[in-house]
Amino acid sequence: MAALSTAPEHREFPFTLKEYRRLAAFIHGRTGITLPDHKINMVYSRLTRRLRELGFLAFSEYCEYYLSPEGEDEIEYLINALTTNLTRFFREKHHFDHLAANLFSDLSADGIKGRTRLRIWSAGCSTGEEPYSIAMTYLEAAARLHCDTRILATDIDSSVVARGAAGCYGVQSVAELGKGRRYRHLTAASGNEWQVRSELRQLIAFKQLNLLDAWPMKGPFDAIFCRNVMIYFDNPTKARLVQRFADLLAPGGWLYIGHSETILDQKTVFRLRGPTIYQKGT
Ligand SMILES: C[S@@+](CC[C@H](N)C(=O)[O-])C[C@H]1O[C@@H](n2cnc3c(N)ncnc32)[C@H](O)[C@@H]1O
Repeated sequence: MAALSTAPEHREFPFTLKEYRRLAAFIHGRTGITLPDHKINMVYSRLTRRLRELGFLAFSEYCEYYLSPEGEDEIEYLINALTTNLTRFFREKHHFDHLAANLFSDLSADGIKGRTRLRIWSAGCSTGEEPYSIAMTYLEAAARLHCDTRILATDIDSSVVARGAAGCYGVQSVAELGKGRRYRHLTAASGNEWQVRSELRQLIAFKQLNLLDAWPMKGPFDAIFCRNVMIYFDNPTKARLVQRFADLLAPGGWLYIGHSETILDQKTVFRLRGPTIYQKGT
């Protein structure tokens, strides 16, 4: 039924395939996200409210606007609207079990194998459930150890980065944590929401970052999570990104990717150590 309501003849705003492809090419150039023709209805429905708000009558007008110098600020809105931010706490739980059993179990009172610094990057962190799951795993595995641990959480979408930094979640999403973790790591806040405790929030720096742009951080990272992000990219973009992750990982560092993703040409740099778990050579 949703498809019917946005079928061309029912559309409130005219949107031709040519205009859609122009918009898709623009988004691909800016974000790496591929928008095949069959996503036209999704794109239409995510943007109609915006056209109404701005008073445009057709997508052709909106496209002219965001491409004009006057519409430069609109690009952030456009990108935020077209990202897919689905996530949840402890999604693909085996990654967190692996982290606890490997990276965190290597910690001793002196730090990791004599080191005292631990750096983890959640690249494409969405609303923060992924980096908070990493932080919870760390505190549960290594709370007593005084390792200098920092988690960097980045996403291209500025609205999800702000939500992650606030660390407030609805009852439904925290229900997935189970009572133990919920009470240990969050506190009841106003409006039927729960907020992540400050000891977890302090471990994480949330920043907006487009993975296609230059990266300000130098690494090295002990682990990088880039899960369910590369599925939206084409193969050359994926391959470049995985190479850049390899460059930023410490020898022996871990790369965790999404359940439907693979890494393509970097088999010499990375060894597969478990389902969608790769380790950089030492
Ligand atoms: C489906 S969510 C995955 C969230 C989390 N990693 C997980 O697996 O649950 C994909 C995220 O990738 C982000 N993303 C897409 N393209 C990006 C880019 N070029 N740079 C940074 N983040 C990007 C989106 O904004 C979105 O929040």
